[in-house]
Amino acid sequence: MTKRFGALTALDDVSLRLAPGAFHAILGENGAGKSTLVKCMMGYHRADAGRLLVDGQEHQVAGPRGAHHLGFGMVYQHFTLVPSMTVAENLILGRDDLPAVVAWAAERERMEAFLRRMPFRVDLDRAAGALAAGEKQKIEILKQLFLGRRVLILDEPTSVLTPDEADQILGVLRTMAREGQVTVVLITHKFREVEAFAHEVTVLRAGRRIGGGHVKDLTRGDLVAMMIPPMLAVEALTVLDDKALTAVRELSLAVGAGEILGVAGVSGNGQRELVETLAGQRSPEAGLIRVAGERYRPTRRQMRRRRVFVLPEEPLSNACVRTMTIAENLAFRNFDEPPIAVTGGFLSRRALHDRGRELIDRFKIRAAGPDASLDTLSGGNVQRTVLARELSQSPKVLVAQNPCAGLDVAATAEIRGRIMAARNAGAAVLFLSEDLDELMELADRIVVMFEGRLVYETARAAADPHVIGHSMASHL
Ligand SMILES: Nc1ncnc2c1ncn2[C@@H]1O[C@H](COP(=O)(O)OP(=O)(O)OP(=O)(O)O)[C@@H](O)[C@H]1O
Ligand SMILES: [Mg+2]
Repeated sequence: MTKRFGALTALDDVSLRLAPGAFHAILGENGAGKSTLVKCMMGYHRADAGRLLVDGQEHQVAGPRGAHHLGFGMVYQHFTLVPSMTVAENLILGRDDLPAVVAWAAERERMEAFLRRMPFRVDLDRAAGALAAGEKQKIEILKQLFLGRRVLILDEPTSVLTPDEADQILGVLRTMAREGQVTVVLITHKFREVEAFAHEVTVLRAGRRIGGGHVKDLTRGDLVAMMIPPMLAVEALTVLDDKALTAVRELSLAVGAGEILGVAGVSGNGQRELVETLAGQRSPEAGLIRVAGERYRPTRRQMRRRRVFVLPEEPLSNACVRTMTIAENLAFRNFDEPPIAVTGGFLSRRALHDRGRELIDRFKIRAAGPDASLDTLSGGNVQRTVLARELSQSPKVLVAQNPCAGLDVAATAEIRGRIMAARNAGAAVLFLSEDLDELMELADRIVVMFEGRLVYETARAAADPHVIGHSMASHL
C-alpha cells in the first residue's frame, strides 16, 4: 500500500502478510506510518495504491464497515466505550447491523455464553465509565471479539496500562491466536512486548518497510538498527583521486549514534579521498551521504547545521592556514556567525580573541596567546588547535583520520579521550587509522579498507588482529 497526504508519502509501497493465527507486531518511530498502514487496512483511509487480499481474494474496502464485514476490528490507544452505558450495552451497541429494537434477553444470553469462553471476568452491569484503564481496555478487546472479528488490529493498546495489565491482555490474545481463534496485529513501541508476544514483526521507517521477519531470528539490536537510521551513512560512494583514478569504489558504510567505526587499512587505499569527500573538499563521482537519514552535501552550512566535524590527516596542510593567527584558525567554522560576525560583514576582533583564549585554555594548547601565528606552534599543538575547533560544538558526526599520528603520549591520550567523550555523548565517529592497536582500543566495530572498498568487517570484541592484518594486505 501507498498513501500520500499532499506532498508527504506517509506509506510507501508497504506489504504485510498475515497467516491465520499470526501475532504480528509493527514497530517504528513516531511518524513512521504505522497508524496509516492499519487505517488503510481498516478503510479509514483510501490508499493511493495497493491491494488488500483476504483469503486470497481482492477486496475494495470503502470504509470501516467494509473492513468489519471482512472480519477486521480495531482497538485504539484511546477508549471508545460510552462511559454512561453499562458494559453489556457497550458490547451490543458496537454492531454495525444493530436492529432498531434490541432483543435484550436474547442478546444477554448470547453475551454470557460468549464470556464463559473468555479468560476475562467482567461485570456486565457496571457503567463503563467507572472501570479502571486496564478493565476498559479488556472490554474494548472483548467487544471486538464479541462482534466476531477474526483479525484484531491494536494500535498501541498498552500505553494506558500497567505492565501487568498489558502482559495479561497480550497473553490472552497470544493464546487465542495460537488456538487459531484470532489473528493479531499489534502496533507498539515496546520491544519487550514484541519479544514476549509476537511471532513476526514488520519495522517501518519514514513510510517504508525497512525490515522484519520472525521475532526469534532478530535481536533487540537488530530491531533498533532497523528503526533508527544510522547517524552517518555512505551509500555506494565512488570518488576519484587527483590523477582521476578511482580511489573509492562504490563504498557503503553506516555508523550509528554513539558508535566508533574503525577503518583499518594501509594508507593510500582511498582513505584520504573518502575523508576529503566527507569534508566537502572533493566531489564524489557517484553515491550519496546521509546524516540521520537525510541527504547530506558537505557544504559549510550543512556541516554546521548537521554538526559534522572532520579531523583530517596532516591538519597543518589540510585544515589550517599557517600564516593566520591561532584565534583565526579556531574560528574557521563560525567566523560568519555572531558573536564573531557583526553587522556590515565585519568581524569582531574582540570576540575572536576571547573565543580563542577560551579554547586555548580548554584544550590546553601551548601558545603565546590567541593572536600568535599558527606557524609558531609545535605539530602536536597544531593538532590540538584543529581538535579544539572541531570538538568544541558537540558533534553529531565526527570523522577523524590518524588524529594521533606524530603526537606524544600525553597528547595522544587526551585526543583519544576527547573522541571517546564525543562518542559517549552520542556522536557517530568514523575513525580511520593505520594503527591497528589504536583501533582495537577505541573502535566498537572495525572494517578494513583495501583498494577503495571495504573488504572485511568485525565487531571489536570478536576482532582478531591477525585476520585484520591479513585482509589489509589483500582480499581474503
Ligand atoms: N490525516 C493526515 N493528514 C496529513 N498527514 C498525516 C495524516 N495522518 C498521518 N499523517 C502523517 O503521516 C505520517 C505517518 O503518520 P502515522 O500516524 O502513520 O505515524 P505512526 O507511525 O503511527 O506514528 P506514532 O508512533 O507517532 O503514532 C506522519 O508524518 C503524519 O504526520
Ligand atoms: Mg500512530
